[in-house]
This record gives sequence, structure tokens and C-alpha cells, in this order.
Amino acid sequence: MSTDGTDLANGGLQIGKEYPPAGEADAIKNLRELHLKVHGVTPGTKLRGEHPKQHGGVWATFQIASDIPAPYKVGLFQKAGTYRAFIRFSNGRSFDDRDPDVRGMAIKVFTSRSEDESPVNQDFILASHPVFFAQNVQHILDFLIATSTGTPAAKLAMTTFPKLIGFTSLATKSPLQMSYWSQTPYQLGTGAVKYFAHPALEQPQPQPDLVLSNSENSLREAMVEQLTRRKIGVTFDFGINPQTDANTMPVEDPTVEWMSAPVRLATISIYPQRFDSQEQMQFVENTAWSPWNFLPEHRPLGGINRARQWVYSDSQDMRHQANGVTPAIPTGRESF
Ligand code: HEM
Repeated sequence: MSTDGTDLANGGLQIGKEYPPAGEADAIKNLRELHLKVHGVTPGTKLRGEHPKQHGGVWATFQIASDIPAPYKVGLFQKAGTYRAFIRFSNGRSFDDRDPDVRGMAIKVFTSRSEDESPVNQDFILASHPVFFAQNVQHILDFLIATSTGTPAAKLAMTTFPKLIGFTSLATKSPLQMSYWSQTPYQLGTGAVKYFAHPALEQPQPQPDLVLSNSENSLREAMVEQLTRRKIGVTFDFGINPQTDANTMPVEDPTVEWMSAPVRLATISIYPQRFDSQEQMQFVENTAWSPWNFLPEHRPLGGINRARQWVYSDSQDMRHQANGVTPAIPTGRESF
């Protein structure tokens, strides 16, 4: 039952609408406390509470398509145009790229049109698996309690977290050649959508057939090999799966994949570049991405996103304070 009395298990849901379950506020409070406790204890330079290892942050363009269907022509996607973007690729938890893991692609689009405007960033946070493994805030809290007290994730997967199976995997390709999904929904116009980014089928240059090295940093090495040594860029199709049925594509359960027909909204072009200088890697460490850096038309939806509003800012505040940095909102005009 949700707080507005809707019976979540028995249909009757509306497109684009949120249904916070009873008890969610307490679950978010407990999740925040546990997250701070678990991630507050690591010594040394404070990294992100999740996705701590970056493969690199790369510059890109984010080009809005000219043929977007009318219902989706809102916010950032209102009219065709090209924005600057900065993208952080990461591992979910592991520091050794040879371990099974989920990989992240965090996109920051710089939407300010001039130097006089204060910077406004639209972030899209995607991961290399179509669905999340926890249904709601209480579920992810149960996961964090179990794993922080020593229960292996593999054991949990067999019982209360079946969607953990396949959530992590061995990397067989470069981060530039993987597909990514938002897993959680976002508002777009009057409806809800989930985002994806797939390497485009037609690339401006043939993509290198890279074999990953046997190194803990094999994923960064593959990106350096492509973008810096061979000077080969890559493009991604960025698009949405719209919510077309509120009951079979629930806003409040990100373990369900939305299988509606995809709609392409933009092309992301990552051009050849050197991205692994000390200065640039440090900039990436000190910068913050969040689903809650958004234009008003692209509001995050669903309980997992409602929790992320607080958990991400806690994690960002904790690491910035511990590392003595005062982060500014990036403008997209930084250079290293
Ligand atoms: C309630 C569930 C979740 C919790 C508690 C959580 C927690 C976190 C935290 C603490 C960070 C680090 C924030 C920072 O210090 O900047 C983070 C980053 C990240 N999370 Fe989540 N997360 C959740 C759900 C998700 C989901 C559903 C996705 C799917 C796309 C996701 C993908 C990522 C990625 C890609 C990053 C790295 C962002 C970057 O590169 O800066 N997370 N998460």
C-alpha cells in the first residue's frame, strides 16, 4: 500500500505518477545513517561511497536529435542543438577491473549557453545492466545491512535478491563499447522514461577490436589505447524507453525492465583525447554527479531515486570535507 492508499500490488497505477510506500521516510533515514557509517571508516583520501574507481573522465558533445517526437521535446530535448558534456566511467565497487562488477557511465551535460549564466548541469547516471537489484528503499537497506555484517552477496542473490544474478559481470569489452541504462525512471514531459546509451551501430570511424589486458587497470588502458594512442572516437545513441503501461512498467520497482519501443533523443560523441593527466583525474575525483542535478523537466522518480537525493549528497559532502576541497559547479570550460 502506498502513502496515498493505492494498492501497489493490484494495478490501477497512472503513467508518470509516484507512489511512495508507507515507511519510506524511515527507511531513507536508516539508509543514510548506515551509508555514512560504512563509508566513513575507510582511512586515507575519501573516495565515493559507491563507484569509487574511475577509469577516466572524458570530454564529449551531446547533440540533441532533430527528429524527436513531440511528447518528448521538452527540457534539454526541446530543440536540436549541441552541448558540451563530461563523462565519468567507473567500476561499481571493485578496484581490480578483472573482477566481476557493474560499470558506470555518468554523463554531465553543460546546459548554460554563455559564460555569464551560472552553470546548470543535467546529469544522466547510467550503469552497465538494464535493471537495479533492489525493488525499493527498504530492500536496498536490507542488502546493505546484510553485506556490511559479512553476508556474501552471492548468498543473498539466491534468496531475497534474485536480481543480483547477472547484475555484475566480467568485463569483456572497453567501457567505450558497452551499453548502459538508467535503471530508475525520470520524468519527461507528462510521462516517465528510463534512459539508455548504446554504442551507435554506425560509427564515424571503425571501432578497434581491442583485447583487454590482464591488468587491474585494463579498462582505463583500453580507453587510452582507443582515444589517445589510436585517436579513434566513439559515438553513443542516447535514448529512452517510455512508460507505456504504469502497471507492467512500475515507477516504484526498478528491478523491472521497461521493454517499450526505444526512442533516440541524442548522439554522444567522445572524440580522441588525452584524459588521464593527474590534473584531469583529480578534477574527476572532486566533481560530483547525481540524479538530482537536473533540469525541472527531468525530475528523478521512484523510491530508489528519492533515497539517492540524500545518499549522494551525504557521500559528496563527506568526501569533499575529508579531502579539504570546496567543489564548484563545473562549467564545461575547465582545461587541464
Ligand atoms: C538507493 C540506491 C543507491 C544508492 C544507495 C547509491 C549510492 C551511491 C553513492 C553513495 C554514490 C557516490 C556519490 C558520490 O560520492 O558522488 C553513487 C554513485 C554512483 N551510482 Fe549509485 N546508488 C544507488 C542506486 C544507483 C542506481 C539505480 C544506479 C544506476 C544507474 C547507480 C549508479 C551509480 C553510478 C554510475 C555512480 C557513479 C557516479 C559518478 O561517476 O560520480 N546507483 N551511488
